[in-house]
Amino acid sequence: MKTWTKEERYRVLKNADEIRSLHEQIIQSDYRQHFHIQSITGLLNDPNGFVYHDGLWHLFYQWCPWGAVHGLKYWYHTVSEDLVKWKNVGVCIRPDTEYDNKGAYSGSALPTDGNLYLYYTGNHRDEDWTRRPYTCLVDLKDGGTAVKLPPLFGMNEDYTEHQRDPKIIHNELNGKYYIILGAQTKEKKGCCLIYVSDSPTEGWRFAGQLKVPGFEDFGDMWECPSIETISGYDVLLFCPQHLTLPGRGGSVHHNGYLLGHMNWDTLTFTPYNTRFHVLDFGFDSYAAECAANPNDKNKATLVAWMGLPDASYPTDEEDWSGCLTLPRELRVRDHRLIQQPLDELRALRGKKIDLESTDLLPRVCEMELISRGGDLILRLFASSDGTGGMTIAYDDGAKEITVDRSGMKRRFNTEQGEQRIRPLPKGLFHLRILIDRSSVEIFVNDGDAVFSSRIFPTEGEDRLFVEGDASIHLWELKRAVEESFAVDSGQPV
Ligand code: FRU
Repeated sequence: MKTWTKEERYRVLKNADEIRSLHEQIIQSDYRQHFHIQSITGLLNDPNGFVYHDGLWHLFYQWCPWGAVHGLKYWYHTVSEDLVKWKNVGVCIRPDTEYDNKGAYSGSALPTDGNLYLYYTGNHRDEDWTRRPYTCLVDLKDGGTAVKLPPLFGMNEDYTEHQRDPKIIHNELNGKYYIILGAQTKEKKGCCLIYVSDSPTEGWRFAGQLKVPGFEDFGDMWECPSIETISGYDVLLFCPQHLTLPGRGGSVHHNGYLLGHMNWDTLTFTPYNTRFHVLDFGFDSYAAECAANPNDKNKATLVAWMGLPDASYPTDEEDWSGCLTLPRELRVRDHRLIQQPLDELRALRGKKIDLESTDLLPRVCEMELISRGGDLILRLFASSDGTGGMTIAYDDGAKEITVDRSGMKRRFNTEQGEQRIRPLPKGLFHLRILIDRSSVEIFVNDGDAVFSSRIFPTEGEDRLFVEGDASIHLWELKRAVEESFAVDSGQPV
């Protein structure tokens, strides 16, 4: 594997031509996605600033241009009219001030009547590499030109330097604006810091540390926190780091949530129970971000990075990695978040495949399966003799579903475990599976559980194998993302 020097990782992108040939080379990859947002070159990680504004959905991502490595981060901008087809706009936030000299890190967006404000962490490092994060603000003029305003506040000295990922919230009940930051106490415990102001652009002050009874010692840093109100419930989403959870293999990075009640006067989030729910049961999901639904306050749309920190992927050697999950509609049912693919996605359905006449599994397709009861085994991208592939197995006796990618020829991140299990106390009745060229997203029982995973089929791994009593529908899917090389933005979109 390639080793990167600090100079290579933190090299500033001066003009688009420096990465044009890299782009032309990576778009030849067999693993480029057809309906997922992916980097034009280099590494993509967290989704940022996901928002509906002036008739368009805006979605940005953390981007390091040079290769599959975490280094100098930019915000890359994409837009969509329908959350299905996405257009590359170009680089939006460049790390070009003293406040963000070593990266424009993750954050969120606030649409107001005239402006779209972007809040992000300026990852400042001194010459001796000491980190001092700033909470920074950009005014995105006409949806396209990024104008940097003075930082809102600097580092809070009562916590370690791990303070980042501002989530902006406008509380319509008291008219105030809040920023939640992921942070770490000096005792190395994960937490959230809350800042408050009467204005989105100035007058910010520290309000206090968010109290979350029962979660005072839960991972050593909380990344990408947010508080959403969905179907009348308050939901605290966050990514506690360096924590092992049952059923999650050796993985120490998780994205999950608590359902409860947020009291903005006492800055207390009281969970209904002590259960930290994993957001996604698959292998690759992190740093999820929600956008408010402009038409329905009970719903929100969630998107996540289909990847993990400290993980490597087979395309690393091709100098690109990472994509986002599909946007999912969020609701609360039975005291849990339900995630479903958006209705608009059905527009991508193309040719229907007759499974009586073939067992070849298209590389880009959607499958709907209705179980008639009993055990079920599905093997995606199996060999022609029915062995290997990614196995999805439902055990009706144990009432649990298992996803296992150890049968794929290209194995990766094996130390984090190759099997993920989720109990299904009410049994399995429905699966919706969306397959792109290097990913599989499995929606179980109408969004009761989701498994998102990258997989990298090789030649000969091309069959579908099914054992069990179920009816299955399979469609090819059309393309929804183009390989366009947009770097210099600044034009109205
Ligand atoms: C999460 C994260 C964030 C940070 C960003 C940097 O994956 O570590 O906490 O802002 O990535 O790219």
